[in-house]
Order: sequence, then C-alpha cells, then structure tokens
Amino acid sequence: MKRLSKILVTAGPTRERLDDIRFISNLSTGRMGYAVADCAAKRGYKVTLISGPTNIAPPGGVKFIEIEDARQMEREVKKNIKKADCLFMTSAVCDWRPEARVHGKIKKERLGKKISIKLVKNPDILAGVSGDKDGKILIGFALESESLLTNAKKKLKAKRLDLIVANSARHKKSPFGHGKTDVTFIDNRGNVKNIRHATKKKVAKELLDSTEALWARKQ
Ligand code: CTP
Repeated sequence: MKRLSKILVTAGPTRERLDDIRFISNLSTGRMGYAVADCAAKRGYKVTLISGPTNIAPPGGVKFIEIEDARQMEREVKKNIKKADCLFMTSAVCDWRPEARVHGKIKKERLGKKISIKLVKNPDILAGVSGDKDGKILIGFALESESLLTNAKKKLKAKRLDLIVANSARHKKSPFGHGKTDVTFIDNRGNVKNIRHATKKKVAKELLDSTEALWARKQ
C-alpha cells in the first residue's frame, strides 16, 4: 500500500494585470489554503504551497511558491502535480484576464469617459490536470451564490474530482477572511458532510481527515 506523502496546495487570489499599476482580482485572502498547508505539514506530509498575493506568512515547513496570475499558477501546478499524491485547489483563480497588458501606466487622457476592457478566458487549471489523474486525489472548492449543492456536484463531476468543498457566497458567514464559515464536503460517491460555524483551521483538519479516508479507500 502506497502511503499518502506529498501534498500540493494552491491558495489565494490571482491578479490579472491591466498595466503595471492596476489589476483585476477577487476577495480571496488565502486563509483556507494556508490552513490546509499548515495542517498537512503538521501531520508530517511534504507540502508545496503555490500562492497568489496574500497578506499572510507561509506556514513553517512548507515549500512556498509565489505566483501572481492564473497562467503562472497553471505552470506551477502542472510542474508540481507530477510528484504529488494529492492536490487541494483552494485558490480563487480569476476566470478572465485583460486581453492585453499595457507596460507602464495607462493615462486617463488617452481614454474617454466610458471605457471597455476586453477580457479573455483563463485556463481552468483544475479541469486541465484532472484528465491525467494517475491515482492522485483531487480536491476542489466551489463558491456559489445560488443552487450551492447542485452546482458543486456539477463541478465535482465535470472536473473529475474526488471531493469538493461547497462554499456559499450568499451566506452571512462569508467564506472570505477570518470569520467562521459553513461548508459542505461532497465526495465522488455522493457522501455529504456538513461542517457548521467552523474556523478555517477546523475545516482544514476535517478536510485532511476526509482526504486520508479517501486515500485509504483507493489503496
Ligand atoms: N478553478 C481552476 N481554474 C479556474 C477556475 C477555477 O482551477 N480558471 C478551480 C478553483 O480553484 C476551484 C474550482 O476550480 O477549486 C471551482 O472554482 P469556482 O470559482 O467555484 O468555479 P468555476 O469553475 O470558476 O465556475 P464559476 O465561476 O462559473 O462558478
């Protein structure tokens, strides 16, 4: 039986640059991914954390890779997934990026009062690696403002995941930042586990427990 040993975690937002000063991003703080990386390192796993820009220090004992945009994150995930047993894709990847990045600063005089920014689609990093799973465990996060469980189940299937963590974007307990949150784990056999009013640390611990059980089931 192969032991679960190498864990890859992505965290935080991506930033998609308009010019050297401005970017498009989202509200992700990175706390969920850092909590998963920390919990996994404390359990003795070899952890690599690929992170977008955050304000938090990387946990001790973790290989830390900083990226800025979705395409850089994709490159690092593809490189590091080869050796990993398990991927936790907690990052909030921007689905689009400005079609062109301007070097320097865009001057407002050059633009009118109303401007349009042309966006192009970013790669779906998780869907891109799930075709070649090779016995790995893939865990995704779904952020939904409606039909939480239905949409999360669709992503679980479409991205060929072992487990998805469903997060409501409508709930008063926002999934972003310090606060406590409600999440639901759904695995690929349809098992559902609700975790209520939990810190990120508690969610990370529950997630590692579920992952270890999934790994044992696969061996
Ligand atoms: N994800 C990814 N690459 C993207 C977008 C998302 O790898 N370009 C991953 C996220 O890290 C997460 C999962 O896919 O683990 C679901 O992300 P989510 O933002 O909930 O859904 P999307 O697939 O982006 O779909 P939508 O925004 O339409 O809900």
